[in-house]
Amino acid sequence: MVIFTEKKDIQSYLQAKKAQQSSIGFVPTMGALHEGHLSLVRQALQETDIVVVSIFVNPTQFDNATDLDNYPRTLPRDVALLETVSNNLVVYAPEVTDIYGEVAQSENFSFGGLEFEMEGQFRPGHFNGVGTIVKRLFEIVTPDHAYFGQKDFQQLAIIKYMVTAYNLPVTIHGCPIYREANGLALSSRNERLKPAYKAAAPFIYETLMAAKKQFGTKSVESITSWVADAFAKHELLKLEYFTIADEQTLKPITETVTNKTYRAFIAVYADDIRLIDNIPLN
Ligand code: PAJ
Repeated sequence: MVIFTEKKDIQSYLQAKKAQQSSIGFVPTMGALHEGHLSLVRQALQETDIVVVSIFVNPTQFDNATDLDNYPRTLPRDVALLETVSNNLVVYAPEVTDIYGEVAQSENFSFGGLEFEMEGQFRPGHFNGVGTIVKRLFEIVTPDHAYFGQKDFQQLAIIKYMVTAYNLPVTIHGCPIYREANGLALSSRNERLKPAYKAAAPFIYETLMAAKKQFGTKSVESITSWVADAFAKHELLKLEYFTIADEQTLKPITETVTNKTYRAFIAVYADDIRLIDNIPLN
């Protein structure tokens, strides 16, 4: 394991590797690593010669200062966890100034409208922050392949859009959502759930599965109000949105047409912790 905290150092290390024709795989993360992150790392290890994992809690993608303050920072534990997967990884864990200089600011992007749906409506500026950091990290790491989870499906779509729009020389891989046995999608935020909320949280995936069962027989509108009802009756979980959308455009739909794929997306508050999930419908 090699750990870098400064971009100039990782850049010269990787330049030497590239000169030896090694392919570079990249898994960007914000740390507080769990099996979901590790599944991306494992896939990258299978497909590329050198795997770089970045660990950086990116301030510009947080629309809420408390969420940024409370975001878990567990670097020694993260490094130990990565060691269990491979001792051949390259870790880049910079300080904010190494990435942004004195003022951490987002660039403004257009993501072809993908940024206005779902997360974009509830987290203003979020995707400009994600685009800014991912583009900078790509410039520093110069990966041939980069791995993102379908857990953040909209983020994945936006990164793919950005790579095409800017003609960035990297192939983006979308990796399956890693879940606990009870269905709860792994998330760094799960660690902050109080026990009662942790016990309640699998209801999110159960509801997505139930919605999927109804898809094709019931209307989108009736499925959507069934989900809203289910959460209205729930004592602990509060629904922020449930949307059935076209998988390509991420636009909400009212009716289905053949030859298109659809996905259900959900955001839920468990106490003050915001959880997201999604599921393919057809
Ligand atoms: P973070 O939330 O740490 O997630 C890092 C990567 O792990 C993302 O691609 C995310 O989709 C993936 N991931 C998280 N939980 C997962 C799960 N249960 N199954 C599969 N993949 C999972 O997403 C970010 O960080 C940031 O926005 C980042 C891209 C690093 C930019 O700052």
